[in-house]
Amino acid sequence: MRLVKPTTKYQKSFLQAVKESHKEGRNKDIESKQSPKQFAEFVKKLRDQEKRVPKGYVLQSVFWLVDRNKFIGRVSVRHNLTKRLREEGGHIGYEIRPSERRKGYGKKILKLGLRKTLQLDIKKALVTCDDDNVGSQKIIEANGGILQDKIRKGEKLVRRYWIKIK
Ligand SMILES: CC(C)(COP(=O)(O)OP(=O)(O)OC[C@H]1O[C@@H](n2cnc3c(N)ncnc32)[C@H](O)[C@@H]1OP(=O)(O)O)[C@@H](O)C(=O)NCCC(=O)NCCS
Repeated sequence: MRLVKPTTKYQKSFLQAVKESHKEGRNKDIESKQSPKQFAEFVKKLRDQEKRVPKGYVLQSVFWLVDRNKFIGRVSVRHNLTKRLREEGGHIGYEIRPSERRKGYGKKILKLGLRKTLQLDIKKALVTCDDDNVGSQKIIEANGGILQDKIRKGEKLVRRYWIKIK
């Protein structure tokens, strides 16, 4: 199991995962049917996010968790925090494809994502999750997250954790 930069090599399993996530209303902005050419362009855009982004966005490095040559999930590491990200989003965002959940991949993807964060010289990472996202809370706490507070964002409460990366 490892993190890789987005690559066309995993087109098939990545797009299957997108299809799964559409059923739960996620990733609607990603088309689940793409030609190799379209997918290559999509991958390039993801990779370019660590080089240039539109105004108001921060640079982010995107990685895919791959196990036995299959796409399992994605993690994004933001290079800086904005006011918005300080409230919700933090340094690291992650997602495990629905069919591979509750197998420990969530804990693993954050662990590996934290290593990538440290490589950017970020030694303390802000990680947030919804107050009712029990799975994500467990993942953050298992990775050393210390709860800073819970803040209200509209209807919901957001938990803000800090993780000191060792
Ligand atoms: C949250 C998410 C990443 C969890 O991934 P996962 O691969 O299932 O996580 P793990 O298998 O490592 O599980 C970690 C722990 O949470 C528990 N857990 C996972 N999903 C759970 C759920 N829906 N309800 C209750 N507990 C849950 C697991 O049983 C495990 O518990 P344990 O520590 O007692 O063994 C995944 O559900 C997901 O991608 N959700 C949508 C996107 C998202 O919420 N991202 C996080 C944003 S903050």
